[in-house]
Amino acid sequence: MKTFLNLIAAGLLSLSGSTSIAQTITLSVNKPQAAVQPTMWGIFFEDINFSADGGIYAELVKNRSFEFSQPLMGWKETGKRGAGNILIVNRGNEHPANPRFAHVTVQAGDSSYGMVNEGFRGMGFKKDARYNFSFLARNTEGSPTGKLILVDENGANIGEATIPSPGKEWKQYTASVTASRTVAKGGLKLLFSGNGSLDIDMVSLFPEDTWKQRPGGLRNDLVQLLADLHPGFVRFPGGCIVEGRDLANRYQWKKTVGKIEDRTLIVNRWNTEFAHRAPGDYFQSYGLGFYEYFQLSEDIGAAPLPILNCGMACQFNTGEVAADDDMSQYIQDAIDLIEFANGSTDTKWGKLRAEMGHPKPFDLKMIGVGNEQWDSQYIARYQRFEQELKSKHPEIKLVSSVGPFSSGERFEYLWSKLRPSKADFVDEHYYMPPEWFLKNSNRYDKYDRKGPKIFAGEYAAHIKVSKENDKEQGETRNTWESALAEAAFMTGLERNADVVQMSSYAPLLAHVEAWQWRPDLIWFDNLRSVGTPNYYVQQLFANNKGTHTIPVTVNNLPLTGQEGVYASATIDQQNRKILLKIVNTTDQPTNYKLVLTGAVTTGNAATQQVLTAKNKGDFNSLDNPGVVKPVEQPLKAGKTNVDVSLAANSLNVITIPYK
Ligand code: AHR
Repeated sequence: MKTFLNLIAAGLLSLSGSTSIAQTITLSVNKPQAAVQPTMWGIFFEDINFSADGGIYAELVKNRSFEFSQPLMGWKETGKRGAGNILIVNRGNEHPANPRFAHVTVQAGDSSYGMVNEGFRGMGFKKDARYNFSFLARNTEGSPTGKLILVDENGANIGEATIPSPGKEWKQYTASVTASRTVAKGGLKLLFSGNGSLDIDMVSLFPEDTWKQRPGGLRNDLVQLLADLHPGFVRFPGGCIVEGRDLANRYQWKKTVGKIEDRTLIVNRWNTEFAHRAPGDYFQSYGLGFYEYFQLSEDIGAAPLPILNCGMACQFNTGEVAADDDMSQYIQDAIDLIEFANGSTDTKWGKLRAEMGHPKPFDLKMIGVGNEQWDSQYIARYQRFEQELKSKHPEIKLVSSVGPFSSGERFEYLWSKLRPSKADFVDEHYYMPPEWFLKNSNRYDKYDRKGPKIFAGEYAAHIKVSKENDKEQGETRNTWESALAEAAFMTGLERNADVVQMSSYAPLLAHVEAWQWRPDLIWFDNLRSVGTPNYYVQQLFANNKGTHTIPVTVNNLPLTGQEGVYASATIDQQNRKILLKIVNTTDQPTNYKLVLTGAVTTGNAATQQVLTAKNKGDFNSLDNPGVVKPVEQPLKAGKTNVDVSLAANSLNVITIPYK
């Protein structure tokens, strides 16, 4: 009996209701600590796993400009043998950015010759939806006529329209067509009749229903999932694609802006990175280029964070570096990017932004210098960027790299050089097992408060799987176990919001039939998309961000994993709400008494959002998207206390209005 009373006195046990015994958690509302930055929870978009072409960029035609290494990849001739032919022509001198086009000759009866595009793992069509076709074309002989047909997986017609007959000069022609049925793996057929020839290029088909109904825009469902995260920033465009396998293969933003037919396609470095998951047909058309990334960020209320190549190719591949004398062009790219984003419309790059449709600046405030670089060659190059950018654009914050690993010699070396630098943010990455995330939830508790701020730029809990199992269904590695570990870790990010001011899960998107890397936050096919358990963890934190952290303690100690329970809390000072995130990683349900200090509850409208699953191995899939989803329930609040029950293996967001 004595022991029991002592435990109650010590706050280790308390009475909740009539019989159950609960520990007391103190929420010190009167001790606000760090301001939570608007950028705290963001997203990282990289064109990996067919995220851009074949993904969020809604273009349905693969290899629309015949610039893939095999110029007719994705296309097949169709119709009567001998009724026509296709010749690929290269006019490199005249149009170096997009040199090839198709010269189509026909001696065909009614629609008896043509070509079919297979799309990116097929084309998704929705019943009664409209699709807008366009191509650049010119007539070179005779007067062949054409039509376009949407076809289902068996080649059956589900909608057709006449293609306007082109004149003698290159010009864009358009047509539109409605799909009579929903089809997940359709295609686009172009059929020609008559005698003669025509040249075609930039053959394109987009759903009319894109995000904000923009012609040539982004896939609605995928952008909506991103918008629903209310991200504080968008980091883009990578990742390793910024670095390239070699410097020629690096991401060059200037080649991704302006008219789409003037953007130079390159092979995506993920095309061949992993032999067992090499798609072979992965290219970057740059239809989603830097202008569109800025626009996307603005649309979803996020700060843009472009990452630029720093004169180094991927060190896992070639490690090729730019010579000292060549570095100025890389730095100039950064300076010009600031002009493109923020410059007035009478500057060269600001004018281009305006011509593309956005005279107002994009309010760029930060730039990343390199992705996962390491060793002295990085520091030397980073310092050159820092020197120039900090003198010309002191208003721009710089993000620097500490390589791909969360610790070790390289990591320590880079930190030793960056600590005294003017880097505003240091970008740490960790793809580690769930146990690592649990053990490291206190990683930032001891970080230097005066050094560069932390950007947890890429992280995800990885459950080990053999390469053979990489053939199984993509979504299966986004288990509840992985998401729960990330949730526990994220309480450590939030608790340290004075140091950690940005964070993002990685990668963001993956096509179920065309991925190279998993787990990923969101999975999709040609028609559907699904948020993983990890997505809902991100969403719960981001949508309950608050303005200031407050201490969450048990017996005067922060709750950082004692008995498998992790917690952090913020208050929203404007809306007078306490936002507690509490993660029970044990297999047992547990009860707590929350006690407020320095505030009283409003007595009603307290809620508990719960994210949990029957089994740790549960995951969401396109066929079964609702296995792990948050549910909300009301909570009874006393004047200064609230009793809560935490389900086994659960993330809970407890919202308590206070006065
Ligand atoms: O997110 C996938 C890859 O992981 C990124 O491209 C790279 O930065 C990291 O190695």
